[in-house]
Amino acid sequence: MALILGLESSCDETAAALVTSDRRILAHKLAGQEAAHRPYGGVVPEIAARAHVEVMAPLVEAALAEAGVTLDQVDAIAATAGPGLIGGVMVGLVTGKALALASGKPLIAVNHLEGHGLSPRLADPDLAFPYLLLLVSGGHCQLLLVEGVGAYRRLATTIDDAAGEAFDKTAKLLGLGFPGGPAVEKAAVRGDPRAVPLPRPLLGSAEPHFSFAGLKSAVARVVGQYSAEDIAASFQQAVVDCLLDRTRRALESVEASALVVAGGVAANASVRAALERLAGEHGRRFVAPPLWLCTDNAAMIAWAGVERFAAGLTDPLDFPARPRWPL
Ligand code: KG4
Ligand code: ZN
Repeated sequence: MALILGLESSCDETAAALVTSDRRILAHKLAGQEAAHRPYGGVVPEIAARAHVEVMAPLVEAALAEAGVTLDQVDAIAATAGPGLIGGVMVGLVTGKALALASGKPLIAVNHLEGHGLSPRLADPDLAFPYLLLLVSGGHCQLLLVEGVGAYRRLATTIDDAAGEAFDKTAKLLGLGFPGGPAVEKAAVRGDPRAVPLPRPLLGSAEPHFSFAGLKSAVARVVGQYSAEDIAASFQQAVVDCLLDRTRRALESVEASALVVAGGVAANASVRAALERLAGEHGRRFVAPPLWLCTDNAAMIAWAGVERFAAGLTDPLDFPARPRWPL
């Protein structure tokens, strides 16, 4: 049994967690920064980095206390090393390096996307490789064939905006505030998904990729002509249609035991329901982590650490923070 401390600070959540190789989450601490960024309508990198500096060390102490363990009992320290906002990534990574140096335990530099991508295996012990992963977050929209730890075959990506980014921009256009995804989902409940004609970029296209910029521009053109609720519902339906179409195309082209969704947008109930139906139609299992594990957290980083540690993958203390780091 291995015990891993995980650290996350690549965007606007500071987080520390302790997870065991037998899938027990001994502690999972999270400090959001929404209030600090709200006046600006989006994440301000400098404010984020400063907030990470202030709360990271106390969060690590709180996580160790909650788990009732000391650093000596930890087998390795896993920290997000990218991709993300460089100032924030450095805070978590440097903290991880310092703890590794002080305790003599190995450092595991985790790709944030790998954290999202392996998190379904923390939630579901029966999820075996290979699986088709739809990774939909604020910065990414990708279809990946996950063949094993460190073995990710990218089948599709977005040629412009990420799905979460489209949610965030739509929320801003509709004056729904920040963060945008949950606000759009909430408004959409009271709207009609067929009320506003919106484009479905690349729907039915022979190429595998996603595109959301045209959808966002279309939303900008109809603001004021329809209610915010109808625009939110129609926008959400357009995103679901695009995600479904591209995922169906991939599902039909690969051997995969399951369809898996991860990343912040996977917290959206309409997205989850549509994907679950799609998987059912194709006779595949559908796996989605619980909502709290979809959005940024450190348990997924600790779990990626568990998987990498088991594979003998540790990293040197001079591992660099990488603002861009494709899987
Ligand atoms: O994975 P995540 O927490 O951070 C990144 O790595 O980007 O994803 C955040 C993104 C944001 O764009 C947010 O608006 C979106 O996920 N999101 C949602 C929902 N909850 C979060 N989008 C749609 N519906 C939601 N319920
Ligand atoms: Zn994320």
